[in-house]
Amino acid sequence: MNPIVDRVMSTVAGQLGNPHGLLGKGVATFLNRGNRAMIEAAVAAAEVAAGESVADIGFGGGIGLTLLLDRVGTTGKVTGVELSRDMLVRARSQFFDQVSTGKLRVAEGSLTVLPLDIGSVDAVITCNTVYFEPALEEACVELARVLRSKGRLVVGIGDPDAMARMPFTKHGFRLRPVAEVVAAMEVAGLSVEQRELPMKPIPGHLLIGRPE
Ligand SMILES: C[S@@+](CC[C@H](N)C(=O)[O-])C[C@H]1O[C@@H](n2cnc3c(N)ncnc32)[C@H](O)[C@@H]1O
Repeated sequence: MNPIVDRVMSTVAGQLGNPHGLLGKGVATFLNRGNRAMIEAAVAAAEVAAGESVADIGFGGGIGLTLLLDRVGTTGKVTGVELSRDMLVRARSQFFDQVSTGKLRVAEGSLTVLPLDIGSVDAVITCNTVYFEPALEEACVELARVLRSKGRLVVGIGDPDAMARMPFTKHGFRLRPVAEVVAAMEVAGLSVEQRELPMKPIPGHLLIGRPE
C-alpha cells in the first residue's frame, strides 16, 4: 500500500479505537451516523424497559446514550463507560442536564474494568468495541458480572470478513470470527442468541447474552 494511504489508515484505526483531539470530534459525529442502525438494533435487542438501569460500554459519539435515555424514561438510569477522555468530556457537555440530575452517569472504564457493581444493571450494550480489546474472555466475564439475573448483554460487531476488506482494520483491529465471540460469552456463563444485521457496506452481528 502507498505509505501515505497506509499512514492515513493507521490514523483512522487509532481514532476509531480511541477518538481524541480535533479529529476525534469529527470521528464522534461519523460514528453516530455510521453506526446508528446497529446501535438502534442493539438497544431494541436489549429489550430495555422504562425504569431500568442500563449501560453502554465504549459509547463513542454517544448515540447509544441518547437511545437508552429515551427507553428508560424518567425513572431509569443510564451509565456510559469510555476509555477515551475526550469522548467522556464530550458526553458530559452534550448530556449536561441528564448528568446533573443523575439520570446519566458518564464514567471512565473499559470492557475489562467496569465502574459498575456486581449484578447492578438490567441491560448492557457494547457496539464496535471488542475489536480493540485484547482480553476478550476477561471482558465477557466482566460484562456478565454486572448483569442482574434476568439481565441482557448485547454485543454488536461488524462481520469480520467484510471488516477485513476495510483498509484501516489492518492497523490493530482484532477481527475475531463470530463463533469466537459467542464462545467467550458462553464461557462467561451466558446463553447466546445470534442475529444478523443486513447492513451495507458492512453487515453486522448482534450477540445477545443472558445469564444461564
Ligand atoms: C469504533 S468506536 C464505537 C463507538 C460506538 N459504540 C459506536 O458503535 O458508534 C469504539 C469506541 O470504544 C472505545 N473503546 C475502545 N476500546 C475500549 C475498551 N477496551 N473498553 C471500553 N471502550 C473502549 C473507544 O474509545 C471508542 O469510543
